[in-house]
Amino acid sequence: MKQFTSVKDVTDLKAIVAEALVLKKDPFAYQHLGKNKMLGLVFLNPSLRTRMSTQKAALNLGMNVMVLNIDKEGWALELRDNVVMNGTTVEHIREAAAVMGEYLDIIGVRSFPGLKDRNEDYTEVIFNKFVEYCGIPIVSLESATRHPLQSLADLITIEELKTKARPKVVLTWAPHIKPLPQAVPNSFAEWMCKADVDFVITQPKGYELSTDFTNGTTITYNQDEALADADFIYVKNWSAYEPYGQMPEVNGNWMLTNDRLKITNNAKVMHCLPVRRDLELSAEILDGPNSLVVHEAGNRVWAAQAVLKQMLEAL
Ligand code: CP
Repeated sequence: MKQFTSVKDVTDLKAIVAEALVLKKDPFAYQHLGKNKMLGLVFLNPSLRTRMSTQKAALNLGMNVMVLNIDKEGWALELRDNVVMNGTTVEHIREAAAVMGEYLDIIGVRSFPGLKDRNEDYTEVIFNKFVEYCGIPIVSLESATRHPLQSLADLITIEELKTKARPKVVLTWAPHIKPLPQAVPNSFAEWMCKADVDFVITQPKGYELSTDFTNGTTITYNQDEALADADFIYVKNWSAYEPYGQMPEVNGNWMLTNDRLKITNNAKVMHCLPVRRDLELSAEILDGPNSLVVHEAGNRVWAAQAVLKQMLEAL
């Protein structure tokens, strides 16, 4: 694997899930692969899980790791071309990314959307500048439109815990107090469309994701209808794609509760975390037997390790 920025970079979905589950059983079997190899994790935005799980995955593979919180610890980056840098920016991404490429064998980058300019976000302007200038294999630690390491961990979790060959998986919108990116639901939809699951999305009117990601998936505005007989429920808030980054008014209460679980097939409940308790997802579910959120976060290690292993093998 030369890069990991979306499900399109995975040649065999079943194989990478199987590989992740083998690594989970025997984490240190490939320590030789990462010997004398350097992974750089560059964060333009905060992270707990992605930062720690990817570091752990790299260390399991024998790699060395450098972490740079470039938003706080680096020089102020200029991202625009053809500008006189006489303002607050100190270093152009052309030099910064190229220099990182000199120090590293693989780079991971996290770059959230601004949620102001849809074209800028959906053409991945910032992330693609790292791709263009770093000159080394790149793994997405969440870009403006996708979070593939999260989606792979989600698929691993479903495959690991499913009790029927083709489970029903529901992605449900959840409430929040501020506009959040569409990266996690976009990515989850994109991966579920390729997985062996019955996939349904439910959301209030106005929160339709880009059809580039939902790709013909059944979408309903009736949450109860979607939840009926669900085996897995993926809870996530996202802001509107149109009008971009806005929060259209919502009728009714979309927060998942134990009462709503009664219409499901005793569904397991997933969330990428971080989650706001009793706003986005009820505490009774998070603290109850149906919650997979911590297990799912644990699987972030094996997702990252399977990806890094394939990238190391291709160096
Ligand atoms: N789910 C996830 O990516 O978590 P972090 O933002 O903490 O990395």
